[in-house]
Parts: sequence; structure tokens; C-alpha cells
Amino acid sequence: MGKGYFITGTDTQVGKTMVAGGLAALYRNKGLDVGVMKPIATGCKRVNNTLISDDAIFLKNSAEVDDEYELINPVSLEQPLAPTIAARLSDTKIDLEKIRMAYDSLCERHEYLIIEGIGGLLVPIDEYYFVVDLAYEMELPVIVVCRPNLGTINHTLLTVSYAREHGLAVKGIVMNESTENGNDVVMRTNIDEIKRLTGLPLLGVIPFDKGLDVTKFNKEVLLKIFRDKVDKDIII
Ligand SMILES: Nc1ncnc2c1ncn2[C@@H]1O[C@H](COP(=O)(O)OP(=O)(O)O)[C@@H](O)[C@H]1O
Ligand SMILES: [Mg+2]
Repeated sequence: MGKGYFITGTDTQVGKTMVAGGLAALYRNKGLDVGVMKPIATGCKRVNNTLISDDAIFLKNSAEVDDEYELINPVSLEQPLAPTIAARLSDTKIDLEKIRMAYDSLCERHEYLIIEGIGGLLVPIDEYYFVVDLAYEMELPVIVVCRPNLGTINHTLLTVSYAREHGLAVKGIVMNESTENGNDVVMRTNIDEIKRLTGLPLLGVIPFDKGLDVTKFNKEVLLKIFRDKVDKDIII
């Protein structure tokens, strides 16, 4: 099994990029050689005729790497849609070989890799190939990012059970407040149920903080919050 993590989530917008970036920043801050990857990004912006993903840039800044953009984000699609649909609308197909080659190069360059998936585990990448299959190929333990509020128990248990059924090693859960939640009781009770029913450790609870913003990288805030709020054992 490789060193690092594949970061998945119970949904889109739950905080995968934030958590992947926060972990990469912690690794870098410890003096560890960490690389990052967002294999497939949709909703990319066109800059000088090149498609650029905010997620990939945030991860690159967090890990402080100078790897070529194409290695960090080998597949960039313009439409903010599911990957197979965004690819079809751009008259392309997702190039899995390109992703595998970029992954192999980054593995050779770095001791640790933090990979951000796209959406959740059952997002299709090819006709019968899903994010879960990509995570399996990459042979990294998985961290599941979930939201704190009502509905999260169901989504988190489904994700963990699907990951396990497909042979992924689940390291644990990170709960992230990507929107202002304000209900501590709901959050605490959801945490207890998720821990009880999955048997997994809660590796961190990241609070909502206006200083955390994927489109505005702020190293100091990111590092401070992740240093305080995630389990020290998360760094392998
Ligand atoms: N803890 C947090 N506090 C404040 N804003 C957050 C937090 N986590 C995520 N966000 C914001 O919520 C949105 C979704 O987070 P993101 O990490 O991009 O989710 P995902 O990668 O799962 O789609 C982004 O705009 C991000 O800046
Ligand atoms: Mg993201």
C-alpha cells in the first residue's frame, strides 16, 4: 500500500479539497515530502486557453510543490457536471492512462501523496469505472470527509460500507463544517453514532471558519486550524 491518503467525501462540497489541502500543509510543515493530485476536475476555468481547477491550485499551494500542473490535474474539464457528462459535452473521453502515468510520476517524486477524489465514491469516470475503482488502483488508505448536520449518518455509513465492500482500507472520518452549522448537539450526537456504527476513528472535526476558503489560499489559517483540529496520528 502506498503512503498517503485518498480523500473522498459523502458528497460534493463537503470539504474534500479543504481537508486534502490541510493535510498536505501539515505534512509539508513537518518537513515531509508530500505531493498532491486532483486526478479529474470539472468546472475548470479557462486561463490563457488552458483549463485550470481551483481545487488543484489550492492543493498545489498547500503542499508547496512545483510539480507540473498536468501531473497534479491530468484531466481538466470545463462544465461543472459529473465527469463522464462533462467529458461527453467536450467531445472527449476521460484518459485513465494519463491519470495512471501522472500518478506514477508523482509517486516516484514524493514520499507521500494526498489525492482528492471527485464527488463521492460512486461518481462515474468511465462507462463502468467509478471513483471507488480509481481509489482501489491507487492503493492508498481512504479518508471520508462528511458534513456535520442531519442526514450525515446515512451518507457516511453508505460511503464507508461501499468503500469496505470494494476492498478499500478506510483510515477514518473527518467531519467538516463547510457551512455555518451552529448546532453542537446534532454534531456531537452524529459523531457518536458514526463512530459506534463504523468502528472508525474520528480523525478531526474542522469548524466553519471564514478564513478557510478554497479560492483564497491562506497558509497560516489553514495550518493553525488543522494543527489544532486533527488527530496527530493522521500523519503517517
Ligand atoms: N471549514 C470550513 N470553513 C469555511 N468554509 C469552508 C470550510 N470547508 C470548506 N469550506 C468552503 O466550502 C466549499 C466546499 O469545500 P470544498 O473543500 O471545496 O468541498 P469539496 O472538495 O468536497 O467539493 C468551498 O467553497 C470551501 O471554501
Ligand atoms: Mg474539491
